[in-house]
Parts: sequence; structure tokens; C-alpha cells
Amino acid sequence: MTERAYVVDQMISAKTIAARVEALAREIEAAFAGTDKLIVVGLLRGSFVFIADLVRELALPVEVDFLEASSYGNAMESAREVRILKDLRGEIAGRDVLVVEDIVDTGFTLSHVVTLLRNREPRRLETIALLDKPSRREVPIRATWTGFEIPDEFVVGYGIDFAQRNRNLPYIGKVRFT
Ligand code: IMP
Ligand code: MG
Repeated sequence: MTERAYVVDQMISAKTIAARVEALAREIEAAFAGTDKLIVVGLLRGSFVFIADLVRELALPVEVDFLEASSYGNAMESAREVRILKDLRGEIAGRDVLVVEDIVDTGFTLSHVVTLLRNREPRRLETIALLDKPSRREVPIRATWTGFEIPDEFVVGYGIDFAQRNRNLPYIGKVRFT
């Protein structure tokens, strides 16, 4: 797959992302005003750049934890399974939790993670996704906050990979095979 030649066409500039992250941070501050219990949970690995920028914009006391989930298709069933590869280090019972995802695509990953974490009885649980591809949705879920809605394109950059490459691009670009 990585053998196939492709180029990355810029779709959302670093400047546009930064402005959106700032605006989202103001909304999150307002929603969680007064909290001293916030844990921001990044879904590895794609959210690592977004979470780094987002928490530095947040004027709130904040803890950071990470969860790694992997979804894989099951040819025999329409529903996909999601495995937890790395769980949180900390407890979230009674805490305010903000789950940070890179992209909501079919919605299986986010809905599974939300169900899992709600079972641990946080005081409050909200979600934020940098990108949303609503046309791809199979599970009816929407993040509390979304950075950008995008069409059904395969994107990379700002933490998001194609076969583990391109996470370090400062912008979001779409993959175009040449
Ligand atoms: P979902 O369970 O289908 O919503 O899967 C979401 C996950 O699929 C994201 O967290 C990404 O890791 C991955 N994904 C979806 N679309 C893209 C893309 O365009 N580029 C890279 N990864 C993607
Ligand atoms: Mg992901």
C-alpha cells in the first residue's frame, strides 16, 4: 500500500486549524467553567497533535490521559468490533471527561469509547473531534464539538496518518494517488 505513489494536497492550513482550535477552546472553557475535575482523554495515536494544541489553549485546570482503541472490520458481520489496546492510567469516576478524537468516520470507535467510559460513571463526559466525515456514518453519533466537517476523502497530517506516515505535516491534506 505504501508502495503506491501519492501526493498530499493541502485541504486545511495550519493557520486555519490554529484559529479553529482557539475558538473550540473558548467553547470548552465556557462549557466546563469552574471545574477542577477535568481530564482530557486523547485517543491514540491520531489525536496527539490536536490534544497538544488544544490543552495549551485551555485556561482551565486540566489533566491529560490517553486511550488507544483499534477498530477492525469483520467480514462476517456488519458491525465492527473495537478493541482497547491501551487503557487509561487514571480513574474517571466523578470526574469531567473530554474525549479527543482525530476523525469521526463510521462512528464505531467513538461510540464504543463513549459507552466504555460512561460505564465508569464520570460526572460529565463530552467529546471533541477535529474532523468529521458525516457522509461515512454508520453509527448515529456526533461529537459535542467538531473542528471541521469534511467530505469523504482520505486525509493525513496534524497527527493523522496514512500507513503511519504524514502525522508530522502541520496541515490537513488529502491523499491523491498519482
Ligand atoms: P471510525 O470508527 O470509522 O469512526 O474510525 C475513526 C478512525 O478511523 C479515526 O480515528 C482514524 O484513525 C481512522 N480514519 C478515518 N478516516 C481517516 C482518514 O481519512 N485518514 C486517516 N485515518 C482515518
Ligand atoms: Mg483514530
